[in-house]
Amino acid sequence: MSEACTAQPIIIDTDPGYDDAFAILLALAAPELQVLGLTTVAGNVTLDIVSDNARRIVELAGRPNVAVHPGADRPLLRPAAHAFDIHGSMGLNGYDWPPPARPPSAVHALDWMLQTLAASADRTVTLVALGPQTNVAMLLRRAPALAARKLRRIVCMGGNYFAGGNASPAAEFNILVDPEAAAIVFACGIELVAMPLDCTNTALTPVDWISDLASLGTEIGTACAGMMGFLKPPPGQATRPLHDAVAMAWMLWPELFEGRLCNVEIETASPLTLGATVVDWRGRTARPKNCLWINGCNAPEMYARMMERLARLPG
Ligand code: RIB
Ligand code: CA
Repeated sequence: MSEACTAQPIIIDTDPGYDDAFAILLALAAPELQVLGLTTVAGNVTLDIVSDNARRIVELAGRPNVAVHPGADRPLLRPAAHAFDIHGSMGLNGYDWPPPARPPSAVHALDWMLQTLAASADRTVTLVALGPQTNVAMLLRRAPALAARKLRRIVCMGGNYFAGGNASPAAEFNILVDPEAAAIVFACGIELVAMPLDCTNTALTPVDWISDLASLGTEIGTACAGMMGFLKPPPGQATRPLHDAVAMAWMLWPELFEGRLCNVEIETASPLTLGATVVDWRGRTARPKNCLWINGCNAPEMYARMMERLARLPG
C-alpha cells in the first residue's frame, strides 16, 4: 500500500507485552494508519500494568495524547491467565520505563469503543486485536449492529493450526485465555483476518535485529533493543518472532503475506484441546468461510520495512 493512501482508521486492542509494543510503535509510525486509540485487556500481564504500558508506549513514541482506555480485567467466564514468565514482572522488561505521565482513563474501553464507532463513517474502522479477545467479544455482544455497520474488519493475532500451540499443546495464548470470547468473534460474520502462529512462528526477527535497533540512536531504539535483549528465544531458536507486530505488518503490507479464506471454529469444551482453532483448510465441510487464515510471509522484507518505519519515530 503506498503511503499516499488515505489513512485507515484503526483501534488497537492490546495487552502490552513486548510484541504488542512493537505493533503499537509500528502503527504510530505508519502514515497509512490513523490510530483512533488503544483499548487494553488483561493478558500478558494484569490489566493495570498493560494499561500503564500502553500509555508508556504512546508517550515514548511522542504521541502522549493517543487515547488509552482500560477494558476487561479477566476473560468472560474463566479466571485470568498471564505470561509474566515471558514478558517479565512489568510486561515490558529490559528497559527502564518511566512511569506513565497520564493517570488511567476513567472511561471504560467498551464505552469509548461505542462512542468512537458511532462517530465513524460506516465500514471504515479496522479493529486490530492483539490480546485475548474479551473486549472485542463484549463489544459484539453489547452492540452487534453498530459493530457490523462501522467495522471494516477485525484483524487478530491469534490461533494455530499447522503450528503447535504456545500456551498448550493445542492452543495459542490469546485464544486459550478466553476461548469463549474468541468463539464469539470468529462467529460474528464481520470480515476477519487471523494472524496465527502458523505464520508468526516462521517470522523470526533477524539475527542483527537487536544491534540494528540499538544503532537507531533513538530512545525508541534503545527501548526496543532492551526488550528484545530481556527475552530469551525459545529453545533451539536464535531469535524470537514478534507475533503482534507481524499482525500489524499485514495491515501495511498484505502483499508480503499468503493465506486462505477458510472456516475456522474455536474449541470451547474439550479439556484436552480447549482453545484450539480448527481450520477447515481443505474445505471438507459446508461451514461458512469466516476467516482469512494467514500462513506465510516474506519475513526478511517485512522486518526490513519494519525497521525503516521504527527509525522514523522521534526521540
Ligand atoms: O501467542 C502470542 C500472543 O499472546 C501475542 O499477542 C502476545 O503478546 C500474547 O498476547
Ligand atoms: Ca499481545
